[in-house]
Amino acid sequence: MSLEEEVRALKDERDAVLLAHNYQRPEVQDVADYVGDSLYLARRAREADRSVIVFAGVRFMAETAKILNPERTVLLPDLRAGCGLADAVTADQVRAWRAEHPGAAVVAYINTSADVKAESDYCCTSSNAVKVVEQVPAEQEILFLPDMFLGDYVRRRTGRRMHLWVGDCPVHAKLRPEGVARARAEHPGAPLVAHPECGCASQVLPEVDRVLSTDGMVRFAEETKEPEVIVATEVGILHRMRRLNPSTAFTPLDAGAVCPYMKEIDLTDVRDSLAERRFVVDVLPETAARARRVLERMIAT
Ligand code: 13P
Ligand code: SF4
Repeated sequence: MSLEEEVRALKDERDAVLLAHNYQRPEVQDVADYVGDSLYLARRAREADRSVIVFAGVRFMAETAKILNPERTVLLPDLRAGCGLADAVTADQVRAWRAEHPGAAVVAYINTSADVKAESDYCCTSSNAVKVVEQVPAEQEILFLPDMFLGDYVRRRTGRRMHLWVGDCPVHAKLRPEGVARARAEHPGAPLVAHPECGCASQVLPEVDRVLSTDGMVRFAEETKEPEVIVATEVGILHRMRRLNPSTAFTPLDAGAVCPYMKEIDLTDVRDSLAERRFVVDVLPETAARARRVLERMIAT
Protein backbone atom coordinates (compact mmCIF):
# COMPACT_ATOMS: atom_id res chain seq x y z
CA MET A 1 0.00 0.00 0.00
CA SER A 2 1.35 3.48 -0.83
CA LEU A 3 1.68 6.08 1.92
CA GLU A 4 -1.21 7.97 0.37
CA GLU A 5 -3.43 4.86 0.42
CA GLU A 6 -2.45 4.21 4.03
CA VAL A 7 -3.52 7.75 4.99
CA ARG A 8 -6.85 7.37 3.17
CA ALA A 9 -7.54 4.00 4.83
CA LEU A 10 -6.59 5.30 8.30
CA LYS A 11 -8.84 8.34 7.90
CA ASP A 12 -11.82 6.00 7.45
CA GLU A 13 -10.73 3.60 10.16
CA ARG A 14 -10.24 6.38 12.71
CA ASP A 15 -13.31 8.39 11.62
CA ALA A 16 -11.06 11.37 10.88
CA VAL A 17 -11.17 14.42 8.64
CA LEU A 18 -7.89 15.85 7.33
CA LEU A 19 -7.65 19.65 6.97
CA ALA A 20 -4.63 21.16 5.21
CA HIS A 21 -3.50 24.77 4.87
CA ASN A 22 -2.57 26.18 1.44
CA TYR A 23 1.14 26.22 2.46
CA GLN A 24 1.33 22.49 3.18
CA ARG A 25 3.48 20.15 1.09
CA PRO A 26 1.77 19.14 -2.20
CA GLU A 27 1.47 15.46 -1.18
CA VAL A 28 -0.32 16.46 2.05
CA GLN A 29 -2.68 18.80 0.20
CA ASP A 30 -3.50 16.06 -2.31
CA VAL A 31 -4.75 13.62 0.31
CA ALA A 32 -6.61 16.19 2.46
CA ASP A 33 -10.41 16.42 2.64
CA TYR A 34 -10.29 20.22 2.67
CA VAL A 35 -7.51 22.65 1.69
CA GLY A 36 -7.76 26.39 2.29
CA ASP A 37 -6.92 29.54 4.23
CA SER A 38 -7.29 30.09 7.98
CA LEU A 39 -10.90 31.27 7.83
CA TYR A 40 -12.08 28.48 5.54
CA LEU A 41 -10.37 25.82 7.66
CA ALA A 42 -11.75 27.28 10.90
CA ARG A 43 -15.25 26.98 9.39
CA ARG A 44 -14.62 23.40 8.22
CA ALA A 45 -13.29 22.48 11.68
CA ARG A 46 -16.32 23.99 13.39
CA GLU A 47 -18.66 21.95 11.23
CA ALA A 48 -16.66 18.70 11.29
CA ASP A 49 -18.79 15.73 12.31
CA ARG A 50 -16.03 13.08 12.38
CA SER A 51 -14.60 12.11 15.80
CA VAL A 52 -11.07 13.22 14.90
CA ILE A 53 -9.75 16.34 13.14
CA VAL A 54 -6.16 16.02 11.87
CA PHE A 55 -4.85 19.52 11.27
CA ALA A 56 -2.04 19.73 8.73
CA GLY A 57 -1.25 23.35 9.47
CA VAL A 58 0.26 25.11 12.47
CA ARG A 59 -0.53 25.02 16.15
CA PHE A 60 -2.76 28.11 16.38
CA MET A 61 -4.98 26.59 13.65
CA ALA A 62 -5.30 23.30 15.55
CA GLU A 63 -6.10 25.23 18.76
CA THR A 64 -8.76 27.19 16.87
CA ALA A 65 -10.29 23.90 15.66
CA LYS A 66 -10.40 22.57 19.24
CA ILE A 67 -11.99 25.76 20.55
CA LEU A 68 -14.66 25.79 17.85
CA ASN A 69 -15.43 22.06 18.05
CA PRO A 70 -14.46 20.91 21.57
CA GLU A 71 -16.15 17.51 21.31
CA ARG A 72 -13.66 16.35 18.67
CA THR A 73 -10.14 15.07 19.19
CA VAL A 74 -7.80 17.47 17.37
CA LEU A 75 -4.41 16.17 16.25
CA LEU A 76 -1.38 18.18 15.09
CA PRO A 77 1.01 15.76 13.31
CA ASP A 78 4.19 17.55 14.47
CA LEU A 79 4.45 19.69 17.59
CA ARG A 80 7.22 21.77 16.04
CA ALA A 81 4.63 23.26 13.66
CA GLY A 82 4.36 26.59 15.48
CA CYS A 83 4.23 30.10 14.02
CA GLY A 84 6.91 32.79 14.32
CA LEU A 85 4.24 35.50 14.13
CA ALA A 86 2.00 33.96 16.82
CA ASP A 87 5.08 33.85 19.09
CA ALA A 88 5.45 37.65 18.80
CA VAL A 89 2.93 38.43 21.56
CA THR A 90 1.91 36.85 24.88
CA ALA A 91 -1.28 37.17 26.94
CA ASP A 92 0.62 39.16 29.63
CA GLN A 93 1.77 41.62 26.98
CA VAL A 94 -1.81 42.06 25.73
CA ARG A 95 -3.02 42.79 29.29
CA ALA A 96 -0.22 45.34 29.79
CA TRP A 97 -0.90 47.02 26.41
CA ARG A 98 -4.61 47.25 27.19
CA ALA A 99 -3.84 48.85 30.56
CA GLU A 100 -1.94 51.62 28.72
CA HIS A 101 -5.00 52.33 26.50
CA PRO A 102 -8.13 52.12 28.65
CA GLY A 103 -11.31 51.76 26.58
CA ALA A 104 -9.53 50.57 23.43
CA ALA A 105 -10.68 47.45 21.56
CA VAL A 106 -8.12 44.68 21.08
CA VAL A 107 -8.25 43.10 17.60
CA ALA A 108 -6.17 39.91 17.38
CA TYR A 109 -5.13 38.30 14.13
CA ILE A 110 -5.99 34.58 14.10
CA ASN A 111 -2.21 33.92 14.09
CA THR A 112 -2.10 34.11 17.91
CA SER A 113 -2.21 31.61 20.76
CA ALA A 114 -5.51 30.67 22.44
CA ASP A 115 -4.29 32.62 25.53
CA VAL A 116 -3.95 35.80 23.46
CA LYS A 117 -7.36 35.32 21.82
CA ALA A 118 -8.87 34.94 25.30
CA GLU A 119 -7.57 38.46 26.14
CA SER A 120 -8.98 40.02 22.94
CA ASP A 121 -12.28 41.62 21.90
CA TYR A 122 -12.23 40.71 18.21
CA CYS A 123 -10.39 38.20 16.03
CA CYS A 124 -9.74 38.40 12.30
CA THR A 125 -7.97 36.57 9.50
CA SER A 126 -6.25 38.00 6.43
CA SER A 127 -9.50 37.61 4.46
CA ASN A 128 -11.81 39.55 6.81
CA ALA A 129 -9.49 41.94 8.73
CA VAL A 130 -10.96 45.09 7.11
CA LYS A 131 -14.55 43.95 7.78
CA VAL A 132 -13.78 43.05 11.41
CA VAL A 133 -12.10 46.40 12.10
CA GLU A 134 -15.09 48.19 10.54
CA GLN A 135 -17.30 46.48 13.17
CA VAL A 136 -15.50 48.20 16.04
CA PRO A 137 -17.54 51.23 17.19
CA ALA A 138 -16.20 54.37 15.47
CA GLU A 139 -15.34 56.18 18.72
CA GLN A 140 -13.18 53.31 20.02
CA GLU A 141 -9.39 53.25 19.57
CA ILE A 142 -8.01 49.96 18.25
CA LEU A 143 -5.04 47.91 19.44
CA PHE A 144 -4.15 45.58 16.55
CA LEU A 145 -1.79 42.64 17.06
CA PRO A 146 0.58 41.01 16.31
CA ASP A 147 1.30 41.71 12.60
CA MET A 148 2.32 45.32 11.91
CA PHE A 149 2.18 44.96 8.12
CA LEU A 150 -1.35 43.58 8.09
CA GLY A 151 -2.28 46.21 10.69
CA ASP A 152 -0.85 49.04 8.61
CA TYR A 153 -2.67 47.78 5.53
CA VAL A 154 -5.99 47.67 7.44
CA ARG A 155 -5.35 51.12 8.95
CA ARG A 156 -4.88 52.60 5.47
CA ARG A 157 -7.97 50.84 4.11
CA THR A 158 -10.27 51.83 6.98
CA GLY A 159 -8.77 55.18 8.08
CA ARG A 160 -9.28 54.05 11.71
CA ARG A 161 -7.21 55.13 14.71
CA MET A 162 -5.13 52.01 15.26
CA HIS A 163 -2.08 51.27 17.37
CA LEU A 164 -0.01 48.42 15.93
CA TRP A 165 1.92 45.77 17.81
CA VAL A 166 5.47 45.51 16.44
CA GLY A 167 5.44 41.92 15.24
CA ASP A 168 5.85 40.28 11.86
CA CYS A 169 5.95 36.94 10.08
CA PRO A 170 9.56 35.85 9.50
CA VAL A 171 8.65 34.58 6.02
CA HIS A 172 6.50 37.44 4.71
CA ALA A 173 8.48 40.31 6.27
CA LYS A 174 11.30 39.46 3.85
CA LEU A 175 9.08 40.16 0.84
CA ARG A 176 10.11 43.80 0.46
CA PRO A 177 9.47 46.71 -1.93
CA GLU A 178 12.91 46.18 -3.53
CA GLY A 179 11.84 42.66 -4.55
CA VAL A 180 8.63 44.04 -6.02
CA ALA A 181 10.57 46.59 -8.09
CA ARG A 182 12.90 43.85 -9.36
CA ALA A 183 9.98 41.56 -10.29
CA ARG A 184 8.26 44.43 -12.11
CA ALA A 185 11.39 45.01 -14.20
CA GLU A 186 11.93 41.31 -14.93
CA HIS A 187 8.27 40.45 -15.67
CA PRO A 188 6.79 43.54 -17.34
CA GLY A 189 2.99 43.54 -17.45
CA ALA A 190 2.52 40.58 -15.08
CA PRO A 191 0.04 41.36 -12.25
CA LEU A 192 1.37 41.01 -8.72
CA VAL A 193 -0.75 39.56 -5.91
CA ALA A 194 0.47 39.85 -2.31
CA HIS A 195 -0.52 38.53 1.10
CA PRO A 196 -1.14 41.39 3.57
CA GLU A 197 1.54 40.02 5.95
CA CYS A 198 4.19 40.94 3.35
CA GLY A 199 6.73 43.62 4.15
CA CYS A 200 5.78 45.11 0.79
CA ALA A 201 1.98 45.04 1.07
CA SER A 202 1.52 48.22 3.04
CA GLN A 203 4.48 50.23 1.82
CA VAL A 204 4.10 49.86 -1.91
CA LEU A 205 0.37 49.37 -2.06
CA PRO A 206 -0.03 51.14 -5.41
CA GLU A 207 2.53 48.70 -6.83
CA VAL A 208 0.54 45.64 -5.76
CA ASP A 209 -2.41 44.74 -7.97
CA ARG A 210 -4.29 42.74 -5.33
CA VAL A 211 -3.76 42.24 -1.59
CA LEU A 212 -5.36 38.86 -0.82
CA SER A 213 -5.58 36.03 1.70
CA THR A 214 -4.23 32.71 0.48
CA ASP A 215 -7.73 31.57 -0.61
CA GLY A 216 -8.22 34.95 -2.29
CA MET A 217 -5.08 34.23 -4.30
CA VAL A 218 -6.34 30.77 -5.22
CA ARG A 219 -9.62 32.27 -6.51
CA PHE A 220 -7.64 34.91 -8.44
CA ALA A 221 -5.54 32.10 -9.97
CA GLU A 222 -8.66 30.22 -11.07
CA GLU A 223 -10.13 33.25 -12.80
CA THR A 224 -7.15 35.04 -14.36
CA LYS A 225 -6.53 35.00 -18.11
CA GLU A 226 -3.08 36.62 -17.73
CA PRO A 227 -0.13 34.67 -19.17
CA GLU A 228 1.92 35.30 -15.99
CA VAL A 229 1.21 36.31 -12.39
CA ILE A 230 3.76 37.19 -9.68
CA VAL A 231 2.85 35.70 -6.30
CA ALA A 232 4.10 37.33 -3.08
CA THR A 233 3.53 34.78 -0.34
CA GLU A 234 4.75 31.39 0.90
CA VAL A 235 5.55 29.14 -2.06
CA GLY A 236 3.37 26.20 -0.94
CA ILE A 237 0.37 27.94 -2.48
CA LEU A 238 1.79 27.59 -6.00
CA HIS A 239 0.80 23.90 -6.08
CA ARG A 240 -2.93 24.71 -6.00
CA MET A 241 -2.63 27.71 -8.30
CA ARG A 242 -0.76 25.79 -10.97
CA ARG A 243 -3.10 22.81 -10.81
CA LEU A 244 -6.21 24.98 -11.04
CA ASN A 245 -4.89 27.04 -13.94
CA PRO A 246 -2.21 25.35 -16.07
CA SER A 247 -2.38 28.09 -18.76
CA THR A 248 -0.97 30.84 -16.52
CA ALA A 249 2.64 30.88 -15.27
CA PHE A 250 2.66 31.55 -11.51
CA THR A 251 6.04 32.97 -10.52
CA PRO A 252 6.97 33.41 -6.86
CA LEU A 253 8.25 36.86 -5.88
CA ASP A 254 10.85 34.96 -3.85
CA ALA A 255 11.29 31.20 -4.34
CA GLY A 256 12.95 31.13 -0.89
CA ALA A 257 9.73 32.20 0.89
CA VAL A 258 9.26 28.88 2.67
CA CYS A 259 7.56 28.63 6.07
CA PRO A 260 9.68 26.22 8.13
CA TYR A 261 6.80 25.64 10.55
CA MET A 262 4.34 24.57 7.85
CA LYS A 263 6.98 22.29 6.33
CA GLU A 264 7.52 20.38 9.61
CA ILE A 265 4.60 18.16 8.57
CA ASP A 266 5.02 15.55 5.87
CA LEU A 267 2.86 12.63 4.77
CA THR A 268 4.62 10.18 7.11
CA ASP A 269 3.76 12.47 10.05
CA VAL A 270 0.13 12.54 8.92
CA ARG A 271 0.07 8.72 8.70
CA ASP A 272 1.69 8.34 12.15
CA SER A 273 -0.62 10.97 13.61
CA LEU A 274 -3.66 8.97 12.48
CA ALA A 275 -2.19 5.59 13.42
CA GLU A 276 -0.95 6.62 16.87
CA ARG A 277 -3.46 9.37 17.68
CA ARG A 278 -0.82 12.02 18.12
CA PHE A 279 -0.29 14.83 19.04
CA VAL A 280 -3.51 15.74 20.84
CA VAL A 281 -4.11 19.52 21.04
CA ASP A 282 -6.07 20.68 24.06
CA VAL A 283 -7.02 24.13 25.31
CA LEU A 284 -7.92 24.79 28.97
CA PRO A 285 -11.73 25.06 29.19
CA GLU A 286 -11.71 28.55 30.72
CA THR A 287 -9.32 29.87 28.05
CA ALA A 288 -11.31 28.11 25.33
CA ALA A 289 -14.59 29.67 26.52
CA ARG A 290 -13.10 33.19 26.38
CA ALA A 291 -11.39 32.64 23.03
CA ARG A 292 -14.58 31.09 21.57
CA ARG A 293 -16.45 34.41 21.99
CA VAL A 294 -14.12 36.21 19.59
CA LEU A 295 -13.82 33.30 17.19
CA GLU A 296 -17.59 32.83 16.91
CA ARG A 297 -17.99 36.56 16.35
CA MET A 298 -15.36 36.36 13.59
CA ILE A 299 -17.02 33.35 11.92
CA ALA A 300 -20.31 35.26 11.89
CA THR A 301 -18.66 38.28 10.15
P1 13P B 1 -4.27 32.85 5.36
O1 13P B 1 -5.37 32.93 6.36
O2 13P B 1 -4.35 33.90 4.30
O3 13P B 1 -4.19 31.47 4.78
O4 13P B 1 -2.88 33.14 6.09
C1 13P B 1 -2.38 32.33 7.12
C2 13P B 1 -0.94 32.48 7.31
O5 13P B 1 -0.35 31.92 8.21
C3 13P B 1 -0.23 33.35 6.40
O6 13P B 1 1.11 33.35 6.71
FE1 SF4 C 1 3.25 31.86 10.77
FE2 SF4 C 1 4.45 33.20 8.82
FE3 SF4 C 1 4.42 30.54 8.75
FE4 SF4 C 1 2.16 31.95 8.30
S1 SF4 C 1 4.01 31.91 7.04
S2 SF4 C 1 2.38 30.15 9.62
S3 SF4 C 1 2.47 33.68 9.71
S4 SF4 C 1 5.45 31.84 10.31
